[in-house]
Amino acid sequence: MPGLTIGDSLPNLEVDTTHGRINLHDYVGNSFAIIFSHPADFTPVCTTELGAMAAYSDRFDQRGVKLLGLSCDDVESHKEWIKDVEAYNKGKKVLYPIAADPTREIIKQLNMVDPDEKDPNGQIIPSRALHIVGPDKKIKLSFLYPASTGRNMDEVVRALDSLIKASKHKIATPVNWKEGEPVVISPTVSNEEACKMFPNGFETVQLPSNKDYMRFTRV
Ligand code: BEZ
Repeated sequence: MPGLTIGDSLPNLEVDTTHGRINLHDYVGNSFAIIFSHPADFTPVCTTELGAMAAYSDRFDQRGVKLLGLSCDDVESHKEWIKDVEAYNKGKKVLYPIAADPTREIIKQLNMVDPDEKDPNGQIIPSRALHIVGPDKKIKLSFLYPASTGRNMDEVVRALDSLIKASKHKIATPVNWKEGEPVVISPTVSNEEACKMFPNGFETVQLPSNKDYMRFTRV
């Protein structure tokens, strides 16, 4: 896939937002951050997504994660739209900034352009892209959904928990993993190293191959 993807550095752009001008690297700071785009203001699915992000803000705060929304319309339009978002979502406040991109330069640089959708003037618009950026300003994970499919914010939190855990320990999280469940020890860690690294110990699953790569622990 051409354009910004996992492992790449987040371009250090200056963006206009509902909270004023923001420098992306300064905004990320030493935290994880989620940058998520929406096709357009005053559209139904986007209104549910922005509201869900507001409703999940406490969970992101608890994890020390910053949020930044983006839609191409201008800041004044975003401010009007936020009133609808808050009303539709039972008054839950949108406390995170939403970036504007009337020239479409930001969505090009952040690889958020929807290849199929255009606005009524024929201009490009963003897909439902979402980048999780690490404190090192690198893209750790990207979702790319079409305009027709709203995202699952539980999956965003779940993936974030996995990324944060994997940034602290040499582990990975298995299929459908949720916070609190066992994790697997990275294949790059030897059993001797694992004994020292994981004070809770670990269990190795016996397999027909007799290879000892399925090692579960709790961190
Ligand atoms: C929506 O948010 O509902 C939407 C936006 C653009 C195209 C289709 C749906």
